[in-house]
Amino acid sequence: MSLIAHIREDINSVLERDPAARSRVEVMLCYPGLWAVWIHRVSHGLWRRRMRLAARILSQVGRFFTGVDIHPGALLGRRLFIDHATGVVIGETAIVGSDVTLYQGVTLGGTGKGHGKRHPTVCDGVFIGNNANVLGNITVGENSRVGAGSVVLSDVPPNSTVVGVPAHIVYRNGERVLITDPHDIKDPLSDSLIALAARVEQLEEQLGGQARPADQFTAEAAEREAYRVELERLRTYVSMGEGI
Ligand SMILES: CC(C)(COP(=O)(O)OP(=O)(O)OC[C@H]1O[C@@H](n2cnc3c(N)ncnc32)[C@H](O)[C@@H]1OP(=O)(O)O)[C@@H](O)C(=O)NCCC(=O)NCCS
Repeated sequence: MSLIAHIREDINSVLERDPAARSRVEVMLCYPGLWAVWIHRVSHGLWRRRMRLAARILSQVGRFFTGVDIHPGALLGRRLFIDHATGVVIGETAIVGSDVTLYQGVTLGGTGKGHGKRHPTVCDGVFIGNNANVLGNITVGENSRVGAGSVVLSDVPPNSTVVGVPAHIVYRNGERVLITDPHDIKDPLSDSLIALAARVEQLEEQLGGQARPADQFTAEAAEREAYRVELERLRTYVSMGEGI
């Protein structure tokens, strides 16, 4: 694929993904995230030809102008869109697939513990919200989404949405995932939650072994759904001007 064809493809992908983008000229002149990707292509070429210092210098020049710090060793796929650019960091052994979207402040970094492949692999079609940190040699599966501000420390299966610190799955294959077992929350407070759940179970047994309602989480899911429906109704109501 020629250089011009690559550039055209990148610009078109921004026009498709950003409703604020109005024309090709605007995208070319006003999207530092794109400049960062283009500079990386050159610095990665130098890196592969073993011109390591020149590659690092060029990537730092790119960082100065775009606010995006991409190590020249990182492997980036096609049509990467870095929206708003500032503060994005992509580490040396990171691998980014095609059609990935990153927002400002995203870090694809190491945990500071490993050598060798120590940065994440982000598969095709992944969306990572602003200021999310994806850390370590982990994989974010195809078409998954990472919520703004999340800290992802373990693999994310394909077609999932993860949020939180540390991140946990809230959607998988379009289905809402509710955490029903404290072991599933990989948080420093997990042990306390597990102990608390065990204590509650013990107390329930002491109270005559009354069976826990089997559908306690179904009830919670229904409650959330009702809340969403009400929210949607209010949204329509206000947008029609009736609420004002
Ligand atoms: C992760 C994201 C894509 C999920 O969107 P969604 O599929 O519509 O998910 P929902 O809004 O139904 O959220 C599902 C649950 O996760 C929670 N959640 C969503 N995003 C979250 C986030 N970033 N951090 C923590 N919790 C979050 C919601 O509160 C909701 O919890 P609840 O059901 O207990 O109330 C979206 O919330 C997000 O973070 N987008 C990033 C946007 C961004 O970076 N914008 C930058 C513009 S400059």
